[in-house]
Amino acid sequence: MKTEGGTPAAKRRAGERAAEEVEDGFVVGLGTGSTTASAIEAIGEAVADGLEVQGIPTSFQSRQLALEVGIQLTTLEAVETVDLAIDGADQIVDDPGSSAHGTLIKGGGAAHAREKLVDAAADRFVVVADPSKLTDRLERSVPLEVLPDAYTVVTARVHELGGEPTLREAKRKDGPVVTDNGNLVLDCEFGAIADPEELAATLSSVPGVVEHGLFVDLADATYVGLEEGTGDAD
Ligand code: 5RP
Repeated sequence: MKTEGGTPAAKRRAGERAAEEVEDGFVVGLGTGSTTASAIEAIGEAVADGLEVQGIPTSFQSRQLALEVGIQLTTLEAVETVDLAIDGADQIVDDPGSSAHGTLIKGGGAAHAREKLVDAAADRFVVVADPSKLTDRLERSVPLEVLPDAYTVVTARVHELGGEPTLREAKRKDGPVVTDNGNLVLDCEFGAIADPEELAATLSSVPGVVEHGLFVDLADATYVGLEEGTGDAD
């Protein structure tokens, strides 16, 4: 399935559909981004109606929104199980015939290190997206969260690997984006990624890379919000 356009309505539908999976007593991983924000808001409405959940935010933004809508917060250290994680994506392979089906690029919000930690810890991880995120092959730049001291050596290593890294700049002020963990982000163009699993393993092995935005074999289901409903692309 591949259609154009990522409207707010499509994002909202995806988020609301995923929020329907949240059950009383659940610990829920709260991803980052505009699509996940719709899920957090929908969970907040259910909490106002009496649902009891605890949320583990993956970023300052998701933490703030969760508090605003009345979701009780917890941490990975404080719980034994994360029942469900809901998170967005920047690109998703939607090709059931491919071994890369369901692989994601994340990190558009510079939160992919905490997102991967929480999403991977969850018993079930559902991705929420609008149709513009679906693709046959990953080809967006891959964000790398890097230690500040490491960005020049990681830049050189990415060049050696055939990539084109760019230090992510903050939109509203001079200077680089700084993650919630105090690190920098290199957005790395690799063109069309033939083997995401291999690239993920290579990037994980680079000293100074805290986390990369390739999510391989992590997602259990994807809810794609449409203008008029929701499609499941799992
Ligand atoms: C943040 C992410 C987001 O989930 C991703 O960028 C999608 O965001 P949106 O739902 O706003 O399109 O990976 O690090």
